[in-house]
Amino acid sequence: MKGIILAGGSGTRLYPLTKSISKQMLPVYDKPMIYYPLSVLMLAGIKEVLIISSPRDIAGFLSLLGNGQKIGIKIEYAIQEEPNGLAEAFTIGESFIGSSPVALVLGDNIFYGSDFGNRLIDAAKLTSGALIFGCYVADPRPYGVLEVDGNLNVLSIEEKPEQPKSSFAIPGLYFFDNEVVEIAKKIEPSPRGEKEITSVIDDYLQRGKLNVKIMGRGLAWLDTGTHESLLDASNFVEAIQKRQGMYIACIEEIAFRRGYITREQLIEQASALMKTNYGQYLLDVANELTIMQRK
Ligand code: TTP
Repeated sequence: MKGIILAGGSGTRLYPLTKSISKQMLPVYDKPMIYYPLSVLMLAGIKEVLIISSPRDIAGFLSLLGNGQKIGIKIEYAIQEEPNGLAEAFTIGESFIGSSPVALVLGDNIFYGSDFGNRLIDAAKLTSGALIFGCYVADPRPYGVLEVDGNLNVLSIEEKPEQPKSSFAIPGLYFFDNEVVEIAKKIEPSPRGEKEITSVIDDYLQRGKLNVKIMGRGLAWLDTGTHESLLDASNFVEAIQKRQGMYIACIEEIAFRRGYITREQLIEQASALMKTNYGQYLLDVANELTIMQRK
């Protein structure tokens, strides 16, 4: 399974913050936003990642993450000239995807919850069809929304409906077989001018190839597209990290625990960050300090 992070977009709902930098480069508490979706792909066991961003912003991501070697994975980069919609990820990424199945995660989505890593590993075993998730939210209107029957079978999917048929929104994390590339090529732009991921998902639904997993209360899904939700996300991450003493989306820790880098490499990464709690945390992880032993 290969992975794509879509980190373009125009970020107009975050103006003036995003007038000159990418939304996905903004801080969510103590780390750049893109660490969060990157950590999701890494937790799924995906080691080949394509980051897609705008012509203006792509260099920033390259400077932040390089070729991925420091965290034991391979990162490539591609440009989306205009924010023409999420489905473009698969046409822009065609040569990167090759003959593999692919996971797509949106650069501004944050996930955190019990057993999420195992669910991701299961999801990444997909070789045929598509797998998406459904999350119960108070206001599903800004998202793709599932219409489900009493047994939670999906009947239809609507993009940003005025009158949603359920409270199950589709979060920005999708797993597809290799057919997604050809499907994406055929998608026509919607009335709002975007090639919608919903159209891609609908193609799988119509062919009986769509699998939907409902995420329960144990999983937090946050998006960070507005000033309020961005601050909420920062506060959430701070609260969990302080309270539990375990970090969310610490890509170096995941790389170490997944065996992508050695203890020595982790210590080397930590040494550049020693003025921060983040650096100290990496050192503690490298030294396998238990939470009880940490200050
Ligand atoms: P959105 O939040 O829907 O759009 P946006 O980031 O352009 O923001 P705004 O609505 O404030 O103008 O995008 C969701 C995610 O997908 C976000 O991480 C940006 C990314 N994206 C792309 O990379 N390319 C695209 O064509 C679109 C539409 C979004």
